[in-house]
Amino acid sequence: MTTTTYGIAVIPGDGIGQEVTPAALEVLDAAARRHGVAFTRTTYDWSCATYLREGAMMPPDGLDRLRGHDAIFLGAVGAPGVPDHVSLWGLLIPIRRAFRQYVNLRPVRVFEGVPSPLRGVRAGEVDLVVVRENTEGEYSEIGGRLNRGFPDEMAVQEAVFTRPGVTRIVDYAFTLAGTRRGRLTSATKSNGIVHTLPFWDEIVAERAAAYPGVTWDQEHIDALCAKLVLDPARFDVIVGSNLFGDILSDLAAAVAGSIGIAPSANLNPERDFPSMFEPVHGSAPDIAGRGVADPIGAIWSAAMMLEHLGHPRPAAEIVEAVAAVLATTDTRTPDLGGSATTSEFTEAVLSRL
Ligand code: NAI
Ligand code: MG
Repeated sequence: MTTTTYGIAVIPGDGIGQEVTPAALEVLDAAARRHGVAFTRTTYDWSCATYLREGAMMPPDGLDRLRGHDAIFLGAVGAPGVPDHVSLWGLLIPIRRAFRQYVNLRPVRVFEGVPSPLRGVRAGEVDLVVVRENTEGEYSEIGGRLNRGFPDEMAVQEAVFTRPGVTRIVDYAFTLAGTRRGRLTSATKSNGIVHTLPFWDEIVAERAAAYPGVTWDQEHIDALCAKLVLDPARFDVIVGSNLFGDILSDLAAAVAGSIGIAPSANLNPERDFPSMFEPVHGSAPDIAGRGVADPIGAIWSAAMMLEHLGHPRPAAEIVEAVAAVLATTDTRTPDLGGSATTSEFTEAVLSRL
Protein backbone atom coordinates (compact mmCIF):
# COMPACT_ATOMS: atom_id res chain seq x y z
CA MET A 1 0.00 0.00 0.00
CA THR A 2 1.36 3.42 -0.89
CA THR A 3 1.28 5.96 1.91
CA THR A 4 -0.16 9.46 1.56
CA THR A 5 1.51 11.81 4.02
CA TYR A 6 0.12 15.10 5.29
CA GLY A 7 1.95 17.77 7.22
CA ILE A 8 -0.10 19.13 10.09
CA ALA A 9 0.53 21.94 12.53
CA VAL A 10 -0.37 21.03 16.12
CA ILE A 11 -1.17 23.68 18.74
CA PRO A 12 -2.05 21.92 22.01
CA GLY A 13 -2.55 25.27 23.79
CA ASP A 14 -3.52 25.54 27.45
CA GLY A 15 -5.10 23.45 30.20
CA ILE A 16 -6.79 20.29 29.00
CA GLY A 17 -5.72 21.16 25.43
CA GLN A 18 -2.39 19.62 26.49
CA GLU A 19 -4.18 16.44 27.57
CA VAL A 20 -6.74 15.81 24.83
CA THR A 21 -4.46 16.70 21.90
CA PRO A 22 -2.00 13.79 22.31
CA ALA A 23 -4.95 11.43 22.87
CA ALA A 24 -6.61 12.54 19.63
CA LEU A 25 -3.39 12.31 17.61
CA GLU A 26 -2.78 8.77 18.81
CA VAL A 27 -6.23 7.71 17.62
CA LEU A 28 -5.78 9.63 14.37
CA ASP A 29 -2.50 7.88 13.59
CA ALA A 30 -3.88 4.43 14.40
CA ALA A 31 -6.95 4.85 12.18
CA ALA A 32 -5.10 6.54 9.33
CA ARG A 33 -2.24 4.02 9.21
CA ARG A 34 -4.58 1.17 8.28
CA HIS A 35 -5.69 3.15 5.23
CA GLY A 36 -2.23 4.18 4.07
CA VAL A 37 -2.43 7.70 5.48
CA ALA A 38 0.29 9.19 7.66
CA PHE A 39 0.97 12.54 9.30
CA THR A 40 4.10 14.50 9.98
CA ARG A 41 3.50 16.91 12.81
CA THR A 42 5.00 20.23 13.75
CA THR A 43 4.05 21.23 17.28
CA TYR A 44 3.81 24.90 18.27
CA ASP A 45 3.74 25.82 21.97
CA TRP A 46 1.60 28.92 21.35
CA SER A 47 -0.68 29.53 24.32
CA CYS A 48 -1.47 31.80 27.25
CA ALA A 49 1.75 30.55 28.83
CA THR A 50 3.57 31.97 25.79
CA TYR A 51 1.65 35.21 26.20
CA LEU A 52 2.64 35.56 29.86
CA ARG A 53 6.29 34.88 28.97
CA GLU A 54 6.63 36.79 25.70
CA GLY A 55 3.68 39.18 25.51
CA ALA A 56 2.07 37.53 22.47
CA MET A 57 0.04 34.38 21.93
CA MET A 58 2.10 33.56 18.84
CA PRO A 59 5.18 35.05 17.19
CA PRO A 60 4.80 37.82 14.57
CA ASP A 61 5.39 35.34 11.74
CA GLY A 62 3.04 32.77 13.31
CA LEU A 63 0.50 32.78 10.50
CA ASP A 64 3.25 32.35 7.89
CA ARG A 65 4.57 29.33 9.76
CA LEU A 66 1.13 27.73 9.69
CA ARG A 67 0.36 28.60 6.07
CA GLY A 68 2.21 25.74 4.40
CA HIS A 69 0.59 22.93 6.41
CA ASP A 70 -2.20 20.71 5.10
CA ALA A 71 -4.25 21.32 8.27
CA ILE A 72 -4.04 22.74 11.78
CA PHE A 73 -5.04 20.79 14.90
CA LEU A 74 -5.72 22.82 18.03
CA GLY A 75 -6.46 21.81 21.63
CA ALA A 76 -7.78 24.87 23.44
CA VAL A 77 -6.46 28.22 24.60
CA GLY A 78 -7.37 30.24 27.66
CA ALA A 79 -5.96 30.58 31.16
CA PRO A 80 -6.89 32.32 34.37
CA GLY A 81 -4.94 35.57 34.49
CA VAL A 82 -5.13 36.20 30.75
CA PRO A 83 -8.28 37.98 29.55
CA ASP A 84 -10.27 35.71 27.22
CA HIS A 85 -10.35 38.33 24.46
CA VAL A 86 -6.53 38.28 24.42
CA SER A 87 -6.34 34.53 23.89
CA LEU A 88 -9.15 34.57 21.33
CA TRP A 89 -8.03 37.58 19.30
CA GLY A 90 -4.33 36.73 19.65
CA LEU A 91 -4.57 33.28 18.10
CA LEU A 92 -7.88 31.72 17.12
CA ILE A 93 -9.53 34.62 15.37
CA PRO A 94 -6.42 35.66 13.38
CA ILE A 95 -6.09 32.05 12.15
CA ARG A 96 -9.76 31.80 11.19
CA ARG A 97 -9.65 35.11 9.30
CA ALA A 98 -6.21 34.95 7.66
CA PHE A 99 -7.00 31.50 6.30
CA ARG A 100 -10.56 32.42 5.31
CA GLN A 101 -12.03 29.61 7.41
CA TYR A 102 -15.51 30.99 6.97
CA VAL A 103 -17.34 27.74 7.78
CA ASN A 104 -17.43 26.56 11.37
CA LEU A 105 -18.94 23.10 11.37
CA ARG A 106 -20.19 21.63 14.63
CA PRO A 107 -21.88 18.23 14.49
CA VAL A 108 -23.94 17.06 17.46
CA ARG A 109 -25.04 13.48 18.16
CA VAL A 110 -26.55 11.75 21.15
CA PHE A 111 -24.53 8.54 21.43
CA GLU A 112 -25.94 5.36 22.84
CA GLY A 113 -24.72 5.09 26.41
CA VAL A 114 -24.52 8.86 26.91
CA PRO A 115 -27.60 10.12 28.68
CA SER A 116 -28.83 13.50 27.52
CA PRO A 117 -29.73 15.84 30.39
CA LEU A 118 -33.11 16.09 28.66
CA ARG A 119 -35.69 13.58 29.75
CA GLY A 120 -37.11 11.80 26.72
CA VAL A 121 -34.16 12.22 24.36
CA ARG A 122 -32.96 8.79 23.31
CA ALA A 123 -29.70 7.73 21.68
CA GLY A 124 -29.63 8.02 17.92
CA GLU A 125 -32.50 10.48 17.79
CA VAL A 126 -30.42 13.61 17.74
CA ASP A 127 -28.05 14.00 14.80
CA LEU A 128 -27.62 17.57 13.68
CA VAL A 129 -24.96 19.94 12.43
CA VAL A 130 -24.64 23.61 13.29
CA VAL A 131 -23.07 25.60 10.44
CA ARG A 132 -21.73 28.81 11.92
CA GLU A 133 -20.51 31.79 9.89
CA ASN A 134 -16.94 32.19 11.12
CA THR A 135 -15.36 35.37 9.77
CA GLU A 136 -17.79 38.28 9.96
CA GLY A 137 -21.14 39.06 11.59
CA GLU A 138 -21.19 40.18 15.20
CA TYR A 139 -17.51 39.32 15.86
CA SER A 140 -16.18 42.46 14.23
CA GLU A 141 -13.37 44.80 15.08
CA ILE A 142 -15.39 47.80 13.93
CA GLY A 143 -16.43 49.99 16.80
CA GLY A 144 -14.84 51.55 19.81
CA ARG A 145 -15.16 53.06 23.23
CA LEU A 146 -15.47 56.70 24.15
CA ASN A 147 -15.32 58.78 27.29
CA ARG A 148 -13.68 56.07 29.35
CA GLY A 149 -14.12 56.63 33.04
CA PHE A 150 -16.74 59.36 32.67
CA PRO A 151 -20.42 58.98 33.48
CA ASP A 152 -21.25 59.09 29.77
CA GLU A 153 -18.79 56.29 28.92
CA MET A 154 -19.96 54.32 25.90
CA ALA A 155 -19.19 51.38 23.64
CA VAL A 156 -20.29 50.74 20.06
CA GLN A 157 -19.78 47.55 18.09
CA GLU A 158 -20.87 47.12 14.49
CA ALA A 159 -22.09 43.79 13.11
CA VAL A 160 -20.92 43.23 9.53
CA PHE A 161 -22.94 41.12 7.09
CA THR A 162 -21.75 41.07 3.47
CA ARG A 163 -23.53 39.56 0.47
CA PRO A 164 -20.60 37.27 -0.40
CA GLY A 165 -20.11 36.33 3.25
CA VAL A 166 -23.74 35.38 3.84
CA THR A 167 -24.17 33.74 0.43
CA ARG A 168 -21.21 31.38 0.81
CA ILE A 169 -22.18 30.15 4.28
CA VAL A 170 -25.80 29.67 3.26
CA ASP A 171 -24.74 27.79 0.11
CA TYR A 172 -22.49 25.58 2.22
CA ALA A 173 -25.35 24.79 4.59
CA PHE A 174 -27.86 24.02 1.81
CA THR A 175 -25.32 21.75 0.11
CA LEU A 176 -24.59 19.94 3.37
CA ALA A 177 -28.30 19.48 4.09
CA GLY A 178 -28.64 17.96 0.61
CA THR A 179 -26.15 15.23 1.58
CA ARG A 180 -28.00 14.52 4.85
CA ARG A 181 -31.72 14.46 5.63
CA GLY A 182 -32.48 17.44 3.39
CA ARG A 183 -33.67 19.88 6.07
CA LEU A 184 -32.23 23.32 6.80
CA THR A 185 -33.16 25.77 9.55
CA SER A 186 -31.88 29.34 9.38
CA ALA A 187 -31.36 31.14 12.70
CA THR A 188 -32.51 34.74 12.56
CA LYS A 189 -33.85 37.61 14.64
CA SER A 190 -35.16 39.83 11.89
CA ASN A 191 -38.01 41.02 14.08
CA GLY A 192 -35.64 42.82 16.44
CA ILE A 193 -32.44 43.40 14.44
CA VAL A 194 -33.90 45.31 11.53
CA HIS A 195 -31.01 45.76 9.06
CA THR A 196 -28.59 42.86 9.09
CA LEU A 197 -30.95 39.97 9.73
CA PRO A 198 -33.65 40.85 7.18
CA PHE A 199 -30.69 40.98 4.74
CA TRP A 200 -29.62 37.51 5.93
CA ASP A 201 -33.20 36.21 5.52
CA GLU A 202 -33.45 37.59 1.97
CA ILE A 203 -30.26 35.84 0.91
CA VAL A 204 -31.39 32.53 2.47
CA ALA A 205 -34.67 32.74 0.54
CA GLU A 206 -32.87 33.61 -2.71
CA ARG A 207 -30.37 30.78 -2.40
CA ALA A 208 -33.07 28.24 -1.45
CA ALA A 209 -34.27 28.28 -5.06
CA ALA A 210 -31.02 26.58 -6.10
CA TYR A 211 -31.64 23.63 -3.74
CA PRO A 212 -35.07 22.21 -4.57
CA GLY A 213 -34.24 18.97 -2.73
CA VAL A 214 -33.85 20.75 0.61
CA THR A 215 -36.81 21.89 2.68
CA TRP A 216 -35.99 24.91 4.80
CA ASP A 217 -37.45 27.23 7.36
CA GLN A 218 -36.28 30.04 9.58
CA GLU A 219 -36.67 30.52 13.31
CA HIS A 220 -35.96 33.46 15.54
CA ILE A 221 -33.00 32.65 17.74
CA ASP A 222 -34.95 32.78 20.99
CA ALA A 223 -37.64 30.39 19.78
CA LEU A 224 -34.99 28.21 18.17
CA CYS A 225 -33.18 27.82 21.50
CA ALA A 226 -36.42 26.68 23.09
CA LYS A 227 -37.10 24.18 20.30
CA LEU A 228 -33.57 22.78 20.52
CA VAL A 229 -34.30 21.94 24.14
CA LEU A 230 -37.88 20.75 23.64
CA ASP A 231 -37.43 18.76 20.44
CA PRO A 232 -33.80 18.49 19.27
CA ALA A 233 -34.53 15.49 17.03
CA ARG A 234 -36.40 17.65 14.51
CA PHE A 235 -33.22 19.41 13.34
CA ASP A 236 -30.84 18.34 10.59
CA VAL A 237 -28.68 21.33 9.57
CA ILE A 238 -28.92 24.71 11.30
CA VAL A 239 -27.18 27.74 9.77
CA GLY A 240 -26.49 30.84 11.81
CA SER A 241 -24.39 33.96 12.04
CA ASN A 242 -21.15 34.01 14.02
CA LEU A 243 -22.82 34.79 17.35
CA PHE A 244 -25.97 32.73 16.88
CA GLY A 245 -23.95 29.74 15.64
CA ASP A 246 -21.62 29.99 18.62
CA ILE A 247 -24.45 29.96 21.14
CA LEU A 248 -26.46 27.28 19.37
CA SER A 249 -23.54 24.91 19.13
CA ASP A 250 -22.79 25.01 22.87
CA LEU A 251 -26.47 24.56 23.61
CA ALA A 252 -26.74 21.63 21.22
CA ALA A 253 -23.57 20.07 22.64
CA ALA A 254 -24.98 20.25 26.15
CA VAL A 255 -28.20 18.60 24.92
CA ALA A 256 -26.03 15.76 23.61
CA GLY A 257 -24.66 15.08 27.09
CA SER A 258 -21.38 17.00 27.55
CA ILE A 259 -19.51 19.83 25.94
CA GLY A 260 -16.48 17.52 26.21
CA ILE A 261 -17.71 15.39 23.29
CA ALA A 262 -18.38 18.18 20.78
CA PRO A 263 -15.99 18.59 17.81
CA SER A 264 -15.56 21.41 15.33
CA ALA A 265 -13.95 22.22 12.02
CA ASN A 266 -12.99 25.69 10.80
CA LEU A 267 -13.03 25.17 7.06
CA ASN A 268 -11.65 27.01 4.09
CA PRO A 269 -13.76 25.06 1.59
CA GLU A 270 -11.75 26.32 -1.41
CA ARG A 271 -8.62 24.78 0.16
CA ASP A 272 -6.54 27.86 -0.62
CA PHE A 273 -5.43 27.78 3.02
CA PRO A 274 -5.21 25.16 5.77
CA SER A 275 -8.38 24.42 7.71
CA MET A 276 -8.33 24.09 11.50
CA PHE A 277 -9.85 21.36 13.68
CA GLU A 278 -10.49 21.75 17.41
CA PRO A 279 -12.86 20.54 20.11
CA VAL A 280 -15.63 22.99 20.97
CA HIS A 281 -14.68 23.08 24.64
CA GLY A 282 -12.11 25.40 26.18
CA SER A 283 -9.09 24.79 28.38
CA ALA A 284 -11.22 23.77 31.41
CA PRO A 285 -8.88 25.12 34.11
CA ASP A 286 -11.16 23.56 36.76
CA ILE A 287 -10.11 20.03 35.77
CA ALA A 288 -6.80 20.65 33.98
CA GLY A 289 -3.75 18.65 35.07
CA ARG A 290 -5.72 15.76 36.54
CA GLY A 291 -5.79 13.57 33.43
CA VAL A 292 -9.57 13.21 33.46
CA ALA A 293 -10.57 15.41 30.52
CA ASP A 294 -12.93 13.81 28.03
CA PRO A 295 -10.94 13.36 24.79
CA ILE A 296 -13.99 12.66 22.58
CA GLY A 297 -14.34 16.22 21.27
CA ALA A 298 -10.69 16.24 20.21
CA ILE A 299 -10.79 12.69 18.80
CA TRP A 300 -13.91 13.47 16.75
CA SER A 301 -12.27 16.71 15.53
CA ALA A 302 -9.33 14.61 14.31
CA ALA A 303 -11.83 12.45 12.42
CA MET A 304 -13.25 15.60 10.80
CA MET A 305 -9.71 16.50 9.72
CA LEU A 306 -9.29 13.10 8.04
CA GLU A 307 -12.59 13.56 6.26
CA HIS A 308 -11.63 17.04 5.06
CA LEU A 309 -8.33 15.69 3.74
CA GLY A 310 -10.29 13.21 1.64
CA HIS A 311 -10.36 10.08 3.81
CA PRO A 312 -13.94 9.48 4.92
CA ARG A 313 -13.44 5.78 5.75
CA PRO A 314 -10.89 6.08 8.57
CA ALA A 315 -12.82 9.15 9.74
CA ALA A 316 -16.01 7.13 10.07
CA GLU A 317 -14.11 4.29 11.77
CA ILE A 318 -12.91 6.68 14.47
CA VAL A 319 -16.41 7.96 15.22
CA GLU A 320 -17.81 4.42 15.20
CA ALA A 321 -15.06 3.22 17.57
CA VAL A 322 -15.95 5.99 20.02
CA ALA A 323 -19.64 5.15 19.67
CA ALA A 324 -18.93 1.46 20.26
CA VAL A 325 -16.91 2.07 23.43
CA LEU A 326 -19.72 4.23 24.81
CA ALA A 327 -22.45 1.79 23.80
CA THR A 328 -20.82 -1.45 24.96
CA THR A 329 -18.59 -0.57 27.94
CA ASP A 330 -18.64 1.51 31.11
CA THR A 331 -15.41 3.19 30.11
CA ARG A 332 -16.04 6.93 30.10
CA THR A 333 -14.63 10.03 31.74
CA PRO A 334 -16.25 11.73 34.78
CA ASP A 335 -18.14 14.34 32.68
CA LEU A 336 -20.15 11.39 31.30
CA GLY A 337 -20.60 9.83 34.73
CA GLY A 338 -17.66 7.42 34.54
CA SER A 339 -14.37 7.12 36.34
CA ALA A 340 -11.97 6.52 33.43
CA THR A 341 -8.98 8.74 32.83
CA THR A 342 -8.27 10.40 29.50
CA SER A 343 -5.72 7.72 28.65
CA GLU A 344 -7.95 4.81 29.74
CA PHE A 345 -10.71 6.02 27.46
CA THR A 346 -8.23 6.60 24.63
CA GLU A 347 -6.84 3.06 25.08
CA ALA A 348 -10.38 1.68 24.83
CA VAL A 349 -10.93 3.51 21.54
CA LEU A 350 -7.56 2.32 20.21
CA SER A 351 -8.31 -1.31 21.02
CA ARG A 352 -11.74 -0.99 19.40
CA LEU A 353 -10.10 0.34 16.23
P1 NAI B 1 -14.65 25.19 29.08
O1 NAI B 1 -15.20 24.52 27.87
O2 NAI B 1 -13.18 25.20 29.22
O3 NAI B 1 -15.27 24.51 30.40
C1 NAI B 1 -16.66 24.55 30.70
C2 NAI B 1 -17.01 23.41 31.65
O4 NAI B 1 -17.01 22.18 30.91
C3 NAI B 1 -16.00 23.22 32.77
O5 NAI B 1 -16.66 22.82 33.93
C4 NAI B 1 -15.11 22.12 32.26
O6 NAI B 1 -14.51 21.36 33.27
C5 NAI B 1 -16.07 21.29 31.43
N1 NAI B 1 -15.36 20.68 30.30
C6 NAI B 1 -14.97 21.29 29.16
N2 NAI B 1 -14.33 20.44 28.36
C7 NAI B 1 -14.30 19.25 28.99
C8 NAI B 1 -13.77 17.97 28.67
N3 NAI B 1 -13.12 17.74 27.51
N4 NAI B 1 -13.92 16.98 29.57
C9 NAI B 1 -14.56 17.19 30.74
N5 NAI B 1 -15.11 18.37 31.10
C10 NAI B 1 -14.96 19.40 30.22
O7 NAI B 1 -15.21 26.67 29.06
P2 NAI B 1 -14.91 27.88 30.07
O8 NAI B 1 -14.74 27.36 31.45
O9 NAI B 1 -15.93 28.89 29.77
O10 NAI B 1 -13.54 28.49 29.58
C11 NAI B 1 -12.28 28.14 30.12
C12 NAI B 1 -11.20 28.79 29.28
O11 NAI B 1 -11.21 28.23 27.97
C13 NAI B 1 -11.42 30.29 29.11
O12 NAI B 1 -10.16 30.91 29.18
C14 NAI B 1 -11.99 30.42 27.70
O13 NAI B 1 -11.70 31.63 27.08
C15 NAI B 1 -11.31 29.28 27.01
N6 NAI B 1 -12.04 28.77 25.83
C16 NAI B 1 -11.29 28.46 24.75
C17 NAI B 1 -11.88 27.93 23.63
C18 NAI B 1 -11.02 27.54 22.50
O14 NAI B 1 -9.81 27.44 22.65
N7 NAI B 1 -11.57 27.29 21.35
C19 NAI B 1 -13.33 27.71 23.56
C20 NAI B 1 -14.03 28.02 24.79
C21 NAI B 1 -13.39 28.56 25.87
MG1 MG C 1 -18.30 28.93 21.99
